[in-house]
Amino acid sequence: MKSPKVVFVCQECGAQAPKWMGRCTECGAWNSLVEERAESPAGTPTTNRFSQFSTSSTARLYAEVEMSQSVRLSTGIGEFDRVLGGGVVPGSLILLGGEPGIGKSTLLLQAAAHFAREVGPVLYASAEESEHQVKSRGDRLGVGASPLYLLSETCIERILEEVSRLSPALVVVDSVQTVWSNKFQSAPGSIGQVREAATQFLFAAKNQNIPTVLVGHVTKDGSLAGPKVLEHVVDTVLYFEGERHHSHRVVRAVKNRFGAVSELGVFEMTGSGLRPVPNPSQLFLSERASGAPGSAVVCCIEGSRPILVEVQALVSTSTYGNPRRMAIGIDQNRLSLLLAVLEKRAGLSLAGDDVYVNIAGGMTIDEPAADLSVVAAVASSVRNRGLSASTAVFGEVGLSGEIRGIPQAALRVREAAQMGFSRVVLPAGNLDPADNAQGEGRCELVGVRTVGEALDQLIA
Ligand code: TYD
Ligand code: MG
Repeated sequence: MKSPKVVFVCQECGAQAPKWMGRCTECGAWNSLVEERAESPAGTPTTNRFSQFSTSSTARLYAEVEMSQSVRLSTGIGEFDRVLGGGVVPGSLILLGGEPGIGKSTLLLQAAAHFAREVGPVLYASAEESEHQVKSRGDRLGVGASPLYLLSETCIERILEEVSRLSPALVVVDSVQTVWSNKFQSAPGSIGQVREAATQFLFAAKNQNIPTVLVGHVTKDGSLAGPKVLEHVVDTVLYFEGERHHSHRVVRAVKNRFGAVSELGVFEMTGSGLRPVPNPSQLFLSERASGAPGSAVVCCIEGSRPILVEVQALVSTSTYGNPRRMAIGIDQNRLSLLLAVLEKRAGLSLAGDDVYVNIAGGMTIDEPAADLSVVAAVASSVRNRGLSASTAVFGEVGLSGEIRGIPQAALRVREAAQMGFSRVVLPAGNLDPADNAQGEGRCELVGVRTVGEALDQLIA
């Protein structure tokens, strides 16, 4: 068979080369050449190979476009549906990224098995594992009889043939970095192959209205391996993350054409697969030693969901000249800033002390609402006096020691009240009547304006 003609095109300037080179000879960009199919020579009549997929070609008035009832297909895993914005949209292309061993294949096999039972046949194309390996994992997960088809195949065109033959209700491709198209000579995982895979599965999904989930590998630095273009092509990008040594995992949406982003789904890895955690606050607070010095509970928001998390601080006298400041789960610079505010505005002396701050459970918080809890935890450790176990706290700390209001206070208060907290210390600016109504009767709200006031309220 004659292999199709390929060229290497610079992604910066569009220059073409017959061979791969590390540097474009035209514009000098490094590592920008990508294998592509050569255009047919000018003169021969040709159509784009994707032209068959184009749908409507006449413009329509906005008002005349009918709204189709948005259908959502449940994956049977509530937390997964939540991240997807309420379920899988037919014809959508979803990318699930994550580090090796985090549980991508496990989650998708569980979802596929449920989907096959409830909605219709599922094709699980595994390019990384044999059918036996997938099945032995399925046995652990308790996958029963259902129209779930396993295919151990790495060729994109073969997978798409099976898709046409079975016309399943869902396709899973594990993973996009290990499949290859016979249109290109380059190895699986190369930028050209990954892009080709994403494009082919995209058109298959749209054309046959079959939702497709692609698994993507994540590189060491946390970005999806392969080109960023992958994220532009797909409808939804989900990241599966979590500390490998903690049992809980978090699925986060970073792009979603059909729902809110930074929506969060929490799972726990157990001996029999991933178990959804419908109430994450309970998980993150489960091992809290109540009333211990250096511990504060903050109510933060992930996506649209409030979660209570424990912030821990330990302040101890430094034995060396240079005191250490260590932050795990919050930004190191933010910690330095908050310590400076504590020294200057609350009169705490930390110059000769090591300060360690940790967010329990391996969580990462990047919203300023956690400021006040960090300040409270550090002050509590310095004074060696615990905060009341039934008090939660949130608020942003400004450089002049003022406590600033933050968004969605009502949601945070409600979560705290639901989790049994009887007192919430929050920015005075968030104390409007609407917010009060949320926690009324169940929770005492204490508004504070400055760091000093907050510490008086928290550490009596
Ligand atoms: P896997 O889904 O293969 O990860 P990925 O596809 O993201 O690379 O699962 C990874 C880990 O999960 C593996 O190290 C073992 C663990 N695991 C369990 O703890 N319990 C289980 O029931 C299963 C299936 C896996
Ligand atoms: Mg896997």
